[in-house]
Amino acid sequence: MPASIADRLAERAGAAFAAEGLPAAFGAVIRSDRPDLSPFQCNGALAAAKEAKKPPRDIAAAVAARLAADPLVAAVDVAGPGFLNLTPAPDIVTVRARELAADDRAGAERVGTPRKVVIDFGGPNVAKPMHVGHLRSSVLGDALQRLFRFRGDDVVSDIHLGDWGLQMGHLITELELEQPDLPYFDAANEGPFPDAPPVTIDDLARLYPQASGKAKSDPDRLAASRRATAELQAGRAGYRALLRHFIAISVAALKQDFDALGVRFDIWKGESDVDPLVPEVVAAFKDKGAAEESDGAWIVRVARDGDKKDLAPLILVTSEGSSLYATTDLATILDRRRAFAPDLILYVVDLAQSDHFEQVFRAAVKVGWLKEGALEHIKFGTVNGPDGKRLRTRDGGTFRLSDLIQEARDRARERLAEARLGDDLSADERDAVADAVALAAIKFADLQNYRTTNYIFDLDRFTSFEGKTGPYLLYAAVRVKSLLRKAADDGQAAGEIRIEAPEETALLFELDNFDTAVRLAYEKRAPNALCDHAFSLAQAFSKFYAACPILKAGDAATSASRLGLATLTLKQLELALGLLGIEAPERM
Ligand code: ARG
Repeated sequence: MPASIADRLAERAGAAFAAEGLPAAFGAVIRSDRPDLSPFQCNGALAAAKEAKKPPRDIAAAVAARLAADPLVAAVDVAGPGFLNLTPAPDIVTVRARELAADDRAGAERVGTPRKVVIDFGGPNVAKPMHVGHLRSSVLGDALQRLFRFRGDDVVSDIHLGDWGLQMGHLITELELEQPDLPYFDAANEGPFPDAPPVTIDDLARLYPQASGKAKSDPDRLAASRRATAELQAGRAGYRALLRHFIAISVAALKQDFDALGVRFDIWKGESDVDPLVPEVVAAFKDKGAAEESDGAWIVRVARDGDKKDLAPLILVTSEGSSLYATTDLATILDRRRAFAPDLILYVVDLAQSDHFEQVFRAAVKVGWLKEGALEHIKFGTVNGPDGKRLRTRDGGTFRLSDLIQEARDRARERLAEARLGDDLSADERDAVADAVALAAIKFADLQNYRTTNYIFDLDRFTSFEGKTGPYLLYAAVRVKSLLRKAADDGQAAGEIRIEAPEETALLFELDNFDTAVRLAYEKRAPNALCDHAFSLAQAFSKFYAACPILKAGDAATSASRLGLATLTLKQLELALGLLGIEAPERM
């Protein structure tokens, strides 16, 4: 794929700097922050001034004189302390439009060297309902897996179920209280056990809060759950059989939830799957002298000189001989190393777990499993209620994902009715559109913030068809689709693009920025850059649409050109939305 206009200009500006005896890298060209003056700018002269020991304006003037003679450049001015304002020649704008239209990736490049990347996200816990934190992880992690794949990396996504902790002990003991005669509770019973599960997902949803509620006020009840957890982990046959049932039931329900969310995982492994590796993990740390004994426990010291805050040692094995969350994560690294030999593992998890991941990463480096930098915690902030505190339900509980999606659907339905959208659709189609609007609303609202930003959950704002929202972008895409359908009905087809009107030029510059946005999102693991791009693109299209008649342009060549531009815009908008996990309906 030939380079973007900005990169083409940068190449010429770089050559001009080089001709002045300065590094070509000073020629970097970006979109201008004063588009009223020129669409592009180069700030290299300011940086070069120090090196050249010359006033920046003098350098800028010398570079400008060279660029003025370049056929690629229509205008070049020196502004302020030494900025170069650049306007590309009209020909190149048309050339670029045709290149983008001919590219099935609408201008987005691939990485030079694909990597093997594991993305650990979602992370729901078996039996415990998913909450908004899991939603954020799921939406962000899914966008990242789509983005990394789109760039050409070889991605494996893993849901990493939380299926090995105290919640299992709670479930086991609570079930025993209700149905003590089940074969699973006979300690002498080595199996085999029944294939049919003894409970349903609704039972699990009831048993867990019941048990954890009791355990909060009753230390004996808590001790019973702890004991059951330890026995489960030690291998008690009946408990293991129950665990398998609990996981299977939960996974079936979770698959439905994630399906509804449009989020897919390549593997559905959990903490319990790597438990058999724990002895090997412990042995590896002991062999390498990376762990030490402390009050009967085995710990890994991970603090380093120069740390800004104290990082506690990682507990590999407790004094009671059990393994914890960190041990499981280390075992998972070992497992992934064997299965995939990843170059990079991303963990898309709440920033509240920063210390945990810092400990785990340092320990993994210390034992020599992965290089520094091959493990990354992709942190995100909280989703808050209108009061600015972590979102809770009216009765103070954590928000359930399924309730939240249902609420968004209801709100989306109302919004569509208010806007008189979808009136002529069948009831089924209207429902499908409402679902698409609800998902777009939730996902876009989440992704448009830089991930560590906390945001307030406000369904009214998220579901609005105006402003920087998912529904606005869906509507923008649907509008282009209906335009193209109308053109087809009229017998008009897209043809060779010619960029003439200023709104066409502005739209093309937006389109030509796609690769930059994709790259930025990829490098910073920050899909908000794609949200910004999609929004600017939709706005630029809307201005173009208002200013430039398409079907009634007056002559066939202009109509065909504008239809070509509309087709390209739709393709790129759908690609960008697709990377965010958002799909536009055909009509609404
Ligand atoms: N299940 C965990 C939780 O709900 C998240 C898991 C994150 N991934 C990991 N490898 N630790 O907090």
